[in-house]
Amino acid sequence: MSTRAVPVAVATPYDVHVGPGALGLAATVLAGRRRVAIVSQAAIADRYLDAVRSGLGECEVFLMGDGEEAKSLATVEHLCRGFAAWGLLRGDAVLALGGGVVGDTAGFAASVYYRGVDVVQAPTTLLAQVDAAIGGKTAVNIPEGKNLVGAFHQPIAVLADTSTLASLPDREYRGGLGEVAKYALLADPATEQGGINALLREHTGAVLARDPGILGDLVAHCAGMKAGVVAADPHERTGVRATLNLGHTLAHALETTGGYGLTHGEAVAIGLVFAGELTGACERVGLDTVDRYQALPASLGLPTAVPGGEALRAEDLLAVMRRDKKAAGGLTFVLPGPDGVTLVDDPPPAALAHAFAAVGVGG
Ligand code: GLY
Repeated sequence: MSTRAVPVAVATPYDVHVGPGALGLAATVLAGRRRVAIVSQAAIADRYLDAVRSGLGECEVFLMGDGEEAKSLATVEHLCRGFAAWGLLRGDAVLALGGGVVGDTAGFAASVYYRGVDVVQAPTTLLAQVDAAIGGKTAVNIPEGKNLVGAFHQPIAVLADTSTLASLPDREYRGGLGEVAKYALLADPATEQGGINALLREHTGAVLARDPGILGDLVAHCAGMKAGVVAADPHERTGVRATLNLGHTLAHALETTGGYGLTHGEAVAIGLVFAGELTGACERVGLDTVDRYQALPASLGLPTAVPGGEALRAEDLLAVMRRDKKAAGGLTFVLPGPDGVTLVDDPPPAALAHAFAAVGVGG
């Protein structure tokens, strides 16, 4: 087993353990716990339960359904009732084993059960390892919107076992690269040495081929960036953490209005291209930055335009964007500019029209 620890310096600090075999650290990070409730999904539990359970004391598995529909208050109630029936107490813990759906739902259940029990996040997708499992955001969906009911509940540890990435379906792995591209664009390539941009540039083939030697570096770089942002603004109050939503305003609007067959990471990739074009049209950056926002997702095999986008109306997407959680009544985007990546309110309509056209929306 070869893992490294990436520290997250929040009020109660914890580590993201990255590398093959990290699931085997469950017994270490949960040492002394009387009981552990493992929340997972059937296919994931079949594959990884033995690794996570080895050395753990008394534990019980609580399965939930697949997909965004399972990320619901009904599932949270079901889980909490299961915890109570089994006798999970305040000093016990929950372990979330799976991708973002499991992490968000089990994390939220842990945040409210007994007014909060400790949770260990054990993410098994690239997207969850580089982003969702770190930083304590937990939430479920309601019919009115995604992630509208949730809580900040930092985990006591994150076990990012990179060997789980080998079995991900290709599209799911590539989707995770959409979030990786986001981190690369958030990093300043001029000052960053040996960081995520260098890794993606020099090892593109190995990243796409999921080379086990590269995956640890890739996840650790992204986890380190996320940890820094979360430590600076744990509750998304100062605007620092909101920069992690780079590319997400359009992505969420695409997901809310129908998905268009895109995974979350693919939608983020298109959102990054949109953000680059929008900020370029606002004359906040030069053409080199606009090109970079297009070239990086493309180099990772991600889409740069909305499939069938000519049938969409920009106005419908804008209506959804106005309801975005970080919008204060108008339109708010996370965009690069002269002072780095910041929140920008209400860009001019002509710049928006240009950006929509650049990602193929509206024909
Ligand atoms: N996924 C964005 C955040 O954790 O703030």
